[in-house]
Amino acid sequence: MPATTMDQLVALCKRRGFIFQNADIYGGLQGVYDYGPLGVELKNNIKAAWWRAMIYERDDVEGLDAAILTNRKVLHYSGHEDTFSDPMTDCRKCKGRFRADHIKDGKCPNCGSTDLTEPRPFNLMFKTTVGPVDNADNIAYLRPETAQAIFTQFKNVVDSTSRKLPFGIAQIGKSFRNEITPRNFIFRVREFEQAELEYFVDPGDDEKWHEYWKEERIRWWEEQGLPREHMNIYTTPKDDLAHYAKACYDIEYQFPHGMEELEGIANRTDYDLGNHTKAQEEFGLTSKVHANPESTQKLAILNDEKKKWEVPFVIEPSMGVDRAVLAVLTEAYTEEDLGEGNSRIVLKLKKHLAPIKVAIIPLKKNNEQIMNKCHEIKQNLMKLGIGRIALENTGNIGKAYRRHDEVGTPLCLTVDFETIEQQPESVTLRDRDTMQQIRVNTADLPNYLREYFMK
Ligand code: GAP
Repeated sequence: MPATTMDQLVALCKRRGFIFQNADIYGGLQGVYDYGPLGVELKNNIKAAWWRAMIYERDDVEGLDAAILTNRKVLHYSGHEDTFSDPMTDCRKCKGRFRADHIKDGKCPNCGSTDLTEPRPFNLMFKTTVGPVDNADNIAYLRPETAQAIFTQFKNVVDSTSRKLPFGIAQIGKSFRNEITPRNFIFRVREFEQAELEYFVDPGDDEKWHEYWKEERIRWWEEQGLPREHMNIYTTPKDDLAHYAKACYDIEYQFPHGMEELEGIANRTDYDLGNHTKAQEEFGLTSKVHANPESTQKLAILNDEKKKWEVPFVIEPSMGVDRAVLAVLTEAYTEEDLGEGNSRIVLKLKKHLAPIKVAIIPLKKNNEQIMNKCHEIKQNLMKLGIGRIALENTGNIGKAYRRHDEVGTPLCLTVDFETIEQQPESVTLRDRDTMQQIRVNTADLPNYLREYFMK
């Protein structure tokens, strides 16, 4: 198990403004969290790293940003209305409701009673109505996965980009599940973000691409700072596969509460496009589809070699962004003994994920010359586009260093009397991990920082 505990992370996240319980002042909303000033930066940096790897660094993936409100028919034909449920058991004594797989030894996890109901399916989707009339015709859902809009927009994307197989469509966005037992901080929540790629391939090439994406995704996680030995690749047994999948790998990570799923990489075959397409009988589909008399589009692509239209197979790497935040925080959290009774907490985040890249600290906050120089340096550094440059205004260098260690700021830049009195003008740079300080001429700062953050 990693040394980091969930309590340490929850405390740090609240103390330093990463993550707060939603509606805290009213006692909270269970399974819902808000990202604070530094949490939003960290999460945005994770999403940016994913988007860069999935789209900018490749030539075979397009992006999408679809709506959260979802037409009922989409989730009917995707199979979610019928099958997206967890078996649930009620305790007759304390009236608690629990996922059946969370019941140990036939006892209620809350009160220990053995007077439990048989498990019954509980649909996890949040239902709402669209428009002023609250009736069955106006039912819509908050999407339980971002993937479905990628399938329903498949034809529009292919037509507007002239893509040929293999190619992918990637999307990052909120998903909602009415989890029966949200738990372990942001690990299992009711409102969360997913980063999903649907990678469309020729039927028959699917197993090769499934292996490819497993390796790609492990590599990406390593780049975010998770060592390979803290991950496990779990092959889902056939009986436990989601209703749409032929095979699935889970990339698991050693979270504080145990080795658990971080990302799923599923082979969804032609199940989804097959279920949503018009004229299903034309395509020799391999998956079990429900008849769909309502779709108005053929969700197929022309195979130039075989000279026929086919419904592609889909390989889907699907990551939970909130779980990514929890994983990188777990990995980065370090308590260091500095000797002589001193210690520090330091968040050893990869530089590209750090919420604040450089903290500019004035030696004296009431000195106008020093403050003006701090503002001038900040204006110049912002032009580099390396991320958030924060101007500290506390005037207590020791405290500022500790605070920035705790939130993972890679560099603290101090403006002191030497900066304003001596030529050439210079500042102190302190490295988060080594705590070593060097003097750098302000004229050299842009090149120094560019190189530092490129490494
Ligand atoms: N489109 C496929 C799909 O949604 P999934 O395994 O149900 O598959 C994919 O979800 C990922 O989304 C998971 O690996 C996990 O990281 C994240 N996820 C799922 N449910 C979650 C929840 N309740 N809270 C936080 N993250 C969740």
